[in-house]
Amino acid sequence: MCGIVAYVGGRTAYSILIKGLQRLEYRGYDSAGIALFNGKTNVYKCQGKVKDLQALVKGKEIAGSVGMGHTRWATHGEPSDRNAHPHRSMHGKFYVVHNGIIENYAHLKKELASREYTFQSETDTEALANLIENIYLEQKVDAELAVRLALTKVVGAYGLVIICEDEPGTLIAARKGSPLVIGVGEHEYFLASDATPIVEYTDRVVYLNDEEVAVITADSLDLKNLYNDVKTPDIKRIKLNIDNIDKGEYEHFMLKEIHEQPSSITDTFRGRIAMDESKIFLGGVLDVMPRLLEAKRIIIIACGTSWHAALVGEYLFEEYARMPVEVEYASEFRYRNPVIGKDDLVIAISQSGETADTLAAVRLVKKTGATILGICNVAGSSLSRETDAGVYTHAGIEIGVASTKAFTSQITVLTMMAFLLGNKRQALSAGDYKELIHELIRVPKQIAGMLKSEENIKKIAAAYKNVSHALYLGRGILFPVALEGALKLKEISYIHAEGYPAAEMKHGPIALIDEAMPVCVLALSDRLYEKTVSNIQEVKTRQGKVIAVATAGNKDIYRIADHVIEIPPCHEAMSPLLTIAPLQLLAYHIAVMRGCNVDQPRNLAKSVTVE
Ligand code: AGP
Repeated sequence: MCGIVAYVGGRTAYSILIKGLQRLEYRGYDSAGIALFNGKTNVYKCQGKVKDLQALVKGKEIAGSVGMGHTRWATHGEPSDRNAHPHRSMHGKFYVVHNGIIENYAHLKKELASREYTFQSETDTEALANLIENIYLEQKVDAELAVRLALTKVVGAYGLVIICEDEPGTLIAARKGSPLVIGVGEHEYFLASDATPIVEYTDRVVYLNDEEVAVITADSLDLKNLYNDVKTPDIKRIKLNIDNIDKGEYEHFMLKEIHEQPSSITDTFRGRIAMDESKIFLGGVLDVMPRLLEAKRIIIIACGTSWHAALVGEYLFEEYARMPVEVEYASEFRYRNPVIGKDDLVIAISQSGETADTLAAVRLVKKTGATILGICNVAGSSLSRETDAGVYTHAGIEIGVASTKAFTSQITVLTMMAFLLGNKRQALSAGDYKELIHELIRVPKQIAGMLKSEENIKKIAAAYKNVSHALYLGRGILFPVALEGALKLKEISYIHAEGYPAAEMKHGPIALIDEAMPVCVLALSDRLYEKTVSNIQEVKTRQGKVIAVATAGNKDIYRIADHVIEIPPCHEAMSPLLTIAPLQLLAYHIAVMRGCNVDQPRNLAKSVTVE
């Protein structure tokens, strides 16, 4: 997804914008640009990275205390200098940066072309810049009204910052579907797609709502909706701090976030478990608890890694709350005609809270009267504002595109929710409830202990860094972990990897097994261990290589596996939390050894805010 930063105030905008764009690099992008206003507007933009933009600007005019910047993740028009943002309107009255998609841009372009407008790029954004200018010049209205009138003609999603050359010192911002955060300083304002470029300057923010327009100068913030209704800015304080967005002693954000999991899981359950470990509190769902208890079915919708967390949730709710569960890809669900009633409990899981498919599925559900909860990691995100209630994962900001700590925090929330509902629905005795809570509280220390065996995982990574394919196998609650392990490997190392239920291997994938195919098998000493051992044997008799994730103390596994990664003995319910960390590290080290861009893998974005 694209990234937007903007500034108006007393300081030089250039360094604030460049630093802001660097803070947004984690979102994934293919080109970058800035516009600086100093009596006139200087625009610098190019295909490539922020460092390429800095090289382009070297020695050029960078004065100005008003400006905006953009990192582009191409949707309409290939990555190129001319398609990079900011876009200038034909007569040079307006400059626009945009995150989102204008679905009716072809129609708008055609209409503008009939009014002699020409275009320098293939983007939908340039059509919007020209539309705003055309209204501004023809209807002789001020810039803010021209923007609002233009946006009433737009179909699609946008996060926009606009500069009008005739209104120096003013930024206009608008949002529909793509987030924008306003940072409130002293005689200065900041704008960004999320809080990361803002936190080092102020902790006071205003989250723009859909169809709101802000007019901002160094000393004023005026808010209204598209229909000219004045709004009062709701200023919130954010808890993010600068340490959260620095790599510290780690080479990559992803490695830092893998190692943060003992503390991030602790943060997820902090304040939500009674001191005597006898009960769980999820304040965010208290108001809808009666509806949760009456629910006849749970439907969980998500994408990617969050969908894998949802699959773990299915095992947890079924086993501990005795509730039927269906797990749906949000991208599929939103285009079906699902049968949902008011007795259904729908849970949407999203780290960013901005995934377009997940938000679209939520909007579909809201029409049915079913209760919808959000499990999300970003306060103030669209998901957190569009669901009836929810639980924040409190994993802290996750910069690496490959989700790690957010995944284990999502599972921690689902685990607490399953235990809580299980106890309230008398599916879990008080004694079992307490024992399970105690098992959950032990997990951070167990993960911390396991992360110390990173050297062993690095050796295994070295043995398999040049393979072209890999299989991940797991049974029961570990099947979703096999899927997640495979996703981690493929998305950062570009090795083709698939996750399967271990028993499924005989129904096709076994045909792939040969000496070039590593098979990672989750083989804990649980009730399915013997069955999983049979699968390992089937791989070995076909010269496959086996990496076993096994329970410490199991000596037999060393006889049959080529490599063993040990995890401490744990309760079955905690096994997803304990088994995913070594798979995250395995994928990370293989990707690093292959020279891949671990934090910003090719073609990927941190949050897919477009379809
Ligand atoms: C996971 O490593 C990927 N980055 C991706 O699958 C991600 O989980 C998916 O896009 C969903 O994002 P969300 O949790 O922010 O909705």
